[in-house]
Amino acid sequence: MTKLRELYYCEKCHNLVQITNEGAPALFCCGVKMNKLEAKTEDASTEKHVPFIEEKDGGILVKVGQNAAHPMEDKHHIKFIQVLTADKVCHAELNPGDAPEAWFPVQKANVVKTREWCNVHGLWES
Ligand SMILES: [Fe+2]
Repeated sequence: MTKLRELYYCEKCHNLVQITNEGAPALFCCGVKMNKLEAKTEDASTEKHVPFIEEKDGGILVKVGQNAAHPMEDKHHIKFIQVLTADKVCHAELNPGDAPEAWFPVQKANVVKTREWCNVHGLWES
């Protein structure tokens, strides 16, 4: 059964969907079952993916790569960053050439989870 806020991915067409109304037995795309994305939380490689929060301008700046910025090239980039609170999913869309970060009008104390999706390395959260 799908659950609220889960993300599902189609390996064939690269469709990525978020559950906004839970309870379906499964999701299908291109005639095959979609895979539920499981977020990674630790990155041992030099290229960092785990979202990092800084308090800034009355909200939070979420960066991908605490010490080194994640690449933002056509073939390899962060597609989105999300901040999840108890009752909201805040979503920032990113494009190649952008900085791998996004500011959200959210208090750090209200953050339940941050997550980002890299088009090559998948879903990461903190
Ligand atoms: Fe990556």
